[in-house]
Amino acid sequence: METGITSYTEAFSEIRKLGNVSEVYEKMFDEVDKSYLENVQHVISIGPGPGFNDLAFLKKLTPNLKHFTAIETDESCLGELSKNVEKFLPRDVNIKIYQKGAQYWAGPSPEEAKADLVLMFHATYYFNKKERIDIYKKCFNNWLKADGKLFIMNNKDIHGTTTTNFMNDIYRETGRKPQVESFIIKQELNKLGYIIDKVYDYEHYHDLKLLNDLVVAFIVKVADPPYENDKMVRKALKKLVDENKQGYTYGDLFSVIRKT
Ligand SMILES: C[S@@+](CC[C@H](N)C(=O)[O-])C[C@H]1O[C@@H](n2cnc3c(N)ncnc32)[C@H](O)[C@@H]1O
Repeated sequence: METGITSYTEAFSEIRKLGNVSEVYEKMFDEVDKSYLENVQHVISIGPGPGFNDLAFLKKLTPNLKHFTAIETDESCLGELSKNVEKFLPRDVNIKIYQKGAQYWAGPSPEEAKADLVLMFHATYYFNKKERIDIYKKCFNNWLKADGKLFIMNNKDIHGTTTTNFMNDIYRETGRKPQVESFIIKQELNKLGYIIDKVYDYEHYHDLKLLNDLVVAFIVKVADPPYENDKMVRKALKKLVDENKQGYTYGDLFSVIRKT
């Protein structure tokens, strides 16, 4: 299959359908204390993609949501995102969707209220260290209210797990940059003086033998530097299968707040 013709949203949605990822996330969202985000009215979501994950979180935990702002670069996700916003959020929520890199976004306009919550779910991977640090600072200095929270969902890899992340194993095997892991993100935030408040762990796995063309397309699409085609990924995947490795993904969802 020619992976170049697959849209990001199609490839990404497929990887989330395989295995028990959505179920695991839903259960994890249930662990968050209902009162923790009860007063949230304005949410900014960085990299919501087609939206189903971020919106499932908001549907469960932000009963008083009034404004949802999304910052997303990928064209193919925007249609799905609009559909999912209608599906998951009440009709009276005011929606703004910007097709823009979050590192270039100016933030809520001066006449707009600042946000109570910023979500970065599986989005840190797409920024370099400097961009991530700038985004954390912008979140707390410009985008969020004084008591606002940043919620990050991020995979683990080398630290804090018993098994490395299978996608990063493929990237290492083929000389690509592994995606940044949760441990590093927390270290960066701590160094800036922010507090990691609540932490919820997740783990799920894919049977690597079942991974299909769309999943290969997803792995190819987000590689850094890019692959010329999908041959190397297929070979690395086969090696993992031959070694009987499981496709583990460990990670955590955590909230970040200012020091009081
Ligand atoms: C792995 S998906 C995660 C989607 C969703 N948050 C979730 O957890 O299901 C990452 C998303 O970040 C978007 N993205 C990549 N670079 C970005 C940037 N510079 N600014 C905003 N979004 C970006 C991608 O297009 C993609 O939709």
